[in-house]
Amino acid sequence: MMNMKRTTYCGLITQEYLHQEISLTGWVNKRRDHGGLIFVDLRDRQGIMQIVFNPDFNVDAHLQAQVLRNEYVICVQGKVVARDENLINPNLATGKFELQVTHLTILNKAKTLPFSLEEGESVDEETRLKYRYLDLRRPEMFKKFQLRHDIIFAMREYFHAQGFIDVETPILTKNTMEGAREFVVPSRIHEQSFYSLPQSPQMYKQLLMAAGFDKYMQIARCFRDEDLRADRQPEFTQLDLEMSFINEEDIIAVIDGFFEFLLKKVMNIQVQIPFKRITYDYAFSNFGSDKPDLRFDLKIQDFSSLFANTELKFLKSVLSQGGKVGGLHVSGKAYSRSELLKWVDEAVKFGAKGLLWIRFNEECKHESPVANFLPENFFDLVKASLCPNLKAGDTIFLIAGEYEEAWTLLGRLRLEVAQDLNIIPHDELNFSWVTDFPMFEYNKDDKRWYSKHHPFTSPQAGWENLEQKDIKARAYDLVLNGIELGGGSIRIHDSIIQKKIFNMIGMSDQAAQSYFDFLLEAQEMGYPPEGGIAFGVDRLAMLLTGSKSIRDVIAFPKTQRASDPMMKSPSQVEEQKLELYGLKFLPKKTK
Ligand code: AMO
Repeated sequence: MMNMKRTTYCGLITQEYLHQEISLTGWVNKRRDHGGLIFVDLRDRQGIMQIVFNPDFNVDAHLQAQVLRNEYVICVQGKVVARDENLINPNLATGKFELQVTHLTILNKAKTLPFSLEEGESVDEETRLKYRYLDLRRPEMFKKFQLRHDIIFAMREYFHAQGFIDVETPILTKNTMEGAREFVVPSRIHEQSFYSLPQSPQMYKQLLMAAGFDKYMQIARCFRDEDLRADRQPEFTQLDLEMSFINEEDIIAVIDGFFEFLLKKVMNIQVQIPFKRITYDYAFSNFGSDKPDLRFDLKIQDFSSLFANTELKFLKSVLSQGGKVGGLHVSGKAYSRSELLKWVDEAVKFGAKGLLWIRFNEECKHESPVANFLPENFFDLVKASLCPNLKAGDTIFLIAGEYEEAWTLLGRLRLEVAQDLNIIPHDELNFSWVTDFPMFEYNKDDKRWYSKHHPFTSPQAGWENLEQKDIKARAYDLVLNGIELGGGSIRIHDSIIQKKIFNMIGMSDQAAQSYFDFLLEAQEMGYPPEGGIAFGVDRLAMLLTGSKSIRDVIAFPKTQRASDPMMKSPSQVEEQKLELYGLKFLPKKTK
């Protein structure tokens, strides 16, 4: 039998192994043949160790080493020695040592790889995902997964200590009404019936509270058939939590404590808790987003009153229809005309009808495509009313329109401008709670109301006397550096209120019964007041590993087009298999 027992990992060789006979296993990262001596960088998940073949140590091993190529899998024995002072590699954790090999076993050969591992991130993503096992061989990728593991371990540790119990909930389930489109799975046993994959374990965790479990946690897989972005995948993982006999303050305190524990434990960072709290209205009116990046200021301001008597037709028309003129005061960089035109293009690219710029020259005189329509003393007016720090060289960007639309666009512009000005402190972890969300949002296209969070969220007190648009929810989100890490709410525990809320999003009593009879019934059989929250584990791992996309912290993610180039899924199914489910293909939709 082959002896492959290693003494330690390549990347973990330290002073303590000096002069010891040890054994290492791993992959040939690089081989350099210097005639008499052959040097190999041996790699495993922890890093690289230089190993040396010299005929003086062992003639056979040196002879065998001549056939080694990149990515061969080998096992070596030998002695750890110190490198000469002038040969130390300061870029390698093990750079002070090398192994004098006395025995080599080639465990497996390797073909030339489709890309060299050193090219790393520069290889196109489709290829990296097609050969994901090679991409993951890079120690920097392993490091990300190690941190992800540490995060999950810390989650279990903290919530276990707080008395939460981990319960698994079904993957084959039913519509949970959470807004995104869901994946459906045909049932063979029940003709023409489908399971839904859970968007989250929302219903189950509520029913576990009905069961009296009191504190639930799960590291739960969730599935949503939505358009993908850098921070969205069709299947992702949540840290899902639910607690009974609590209010918002209890949940927020448990979560603040968790993040303090987590960051200390896995990154040795001390964060200040309690995290700050802002209301949804404050977040949106100042930053044009319900997940504002608060690492920098640059607030959106309402310029409408400055244009109350404007002769500019498009502003006049927006204002007369109840719209607003929002603006960003950009300081710190005097944009050239061509740069300003680029900003206009940029704004149009993400959906603005236009972007109005007003630049103040060295004499504080305004320059703008609409300069003639602005009063002579425009600089003084702006400085006195809105921007006390206004100075020569500054620019004001304005977007006019319906409040929600204009502010959302300004929110995006704010982020782009901040990137350009390089004012985002990248090493900061800026947490904030966003509270007091609207209960509902109106969709102009469908001409109907939807729940902003989900329809199981409790409305705030006094809701019965308010118009639908003014009702606030007992919901809260946790935002980190402009990314929504998690969200939750206090739930409705009364079936009468639950039915009313269903009605308010256009669901008849009959439809409510047919979808949610189990919940309504549970709410009538001793259902405790309760609430919870869920966090995106992938998003958290992405932020803490400094990755640009959640795909980097998911072992086998889908591409932006929701496919897996390695296994080639989704894939076709034979017609016979479809028949088993009573299904038939329609002709393909032409694109
Ligand atoms: P919500 O829909 O806000 O709430 O989801 C909670 C968190 O899950 C993460 N997330 C995602 N991560 C990756 N890819 C996706 N497609 C994706 N969608 C969501 C986000 C988000 O903040 N059941 C409720 C929670 C509750 O009320 O307790 C829920 O799922 O980080």
